[in-house]
Amino acid sequence: MANIKLKELSPKFSKLLDKLNAASERKQMSLLLDHPWDIDDGDVWLKKREALSIYGTHYYDLATEEERRLLSVYETGAWWHTFIIFENLVSEYYMKIVNNGTLKKFPQVVKYIHHFCREEITHALVFRKAMAHFKIEPFPTPLNLKDFYSNHSTVKEMPLKAIYMTILIEWLAENNALIDCNNHFVSPLARSVAVEHHKEEARHIEWGKNMIREFTEFVPGFIEDVKVNTASMLKSILDMAVTSPVIFERVNFTNPAFKDYKKMFPVILQSENRSQINEKIIAPLIRFFIEIGVCDGTNLEDWANAGFDKFIDKAREQLKAKSVTSDRDNVMDESYNI
Ligand SMILES: [Fe+2]
Ligand SMILES: [Fe+2]
Repeated sequence: MANIKLKELSPKFSKLLDKLNAASERKQMSLLLDHPWDIDDGDVWLKKREALSIYGTHYYDLATEEERRLLSVYETGAWWHTFIIFENLVSEYYMKIVNNGTLKKFPQVVKYIHHFCREEITHALVFRKAMAHFKIEPFPTPLNLKDFYSNHSTVKEMPLKAIYMTILIEWLAENNALIDCNNHFVSPLARSVAVEHHKEEARHIEWGKNMIREFTEFVPGFIEDVKVNTASMLKSILDMAVTSPVIFERVNFTNPAFKDYKKMFPVILQSENRSQINEKIIAPLIRFFIEIGVCDGTNLEDWANAGFDKFIDKAREQLKAKSVTSDRDNVMDESYNI
């Protein structure tokens, strides 16, 4: 615990931990009872059409309605598969930290990590069950996830970078999932998978953000370190999710235009619809980055290269006007209505 100089938690964080622990003790997701598994779904959509990668481009017009539906199934299935891998990795790594005694000075934190891991284990089982329900075969493991915790983590010192990277992925993925299923057109089971997951993930994200706030000043160089690649990392995750060759191969579009990835992927990535979805996903995160100093006047070029600079001014204005805070998830507030 070489670099954990903090003696005790701030009263504010301690109070939040009590609340988070109490919420997890009150109710945690059940693999058997919390989703309508007995629904006979048939040929359903697993995300709304406006969130399809090809929506808003001429490729959408080139696809048949059945191909669009299949795209909704495989694009959602690929996210579920990524959740399974990531949440297994998170549970393994966080339990390793607990077992190593790294955070034993802070029993409330350790207690919450136990709840967190219990929840992630169930989530992974639920996503696996949902993939089986909709007969979606597993996807290849994303290469960037394989070494995720070996590259960013430590078990000897405060694992702040690993916690930071974890909430970025949880937060981005949650915002994406809520946008995808915010529509009665989508299968009730798929919506329920997203909604039930979000109930617990919202707490994980809250915990992660407050771990960063609490410990940043006790981990020298942390902000400078994560400042370097936060924008590019978020951009590459968003882009990879909508330009995965394996998804397009599975749909097996009849029009040959779908085989020319070099032509198709830039069109998808640069579409106005994609830019609007990216803004909805990223805007709440930007407010947090401004607050903690990951996005400031010194690294605007990185944010511009990722195409996120246009969201920054708006985020600054919102924070200044206090119309929102970095603690408010505007995806949930503005566009999620089930
Ligand atoms: Fe989860
Ligand atoms: Fe989580």
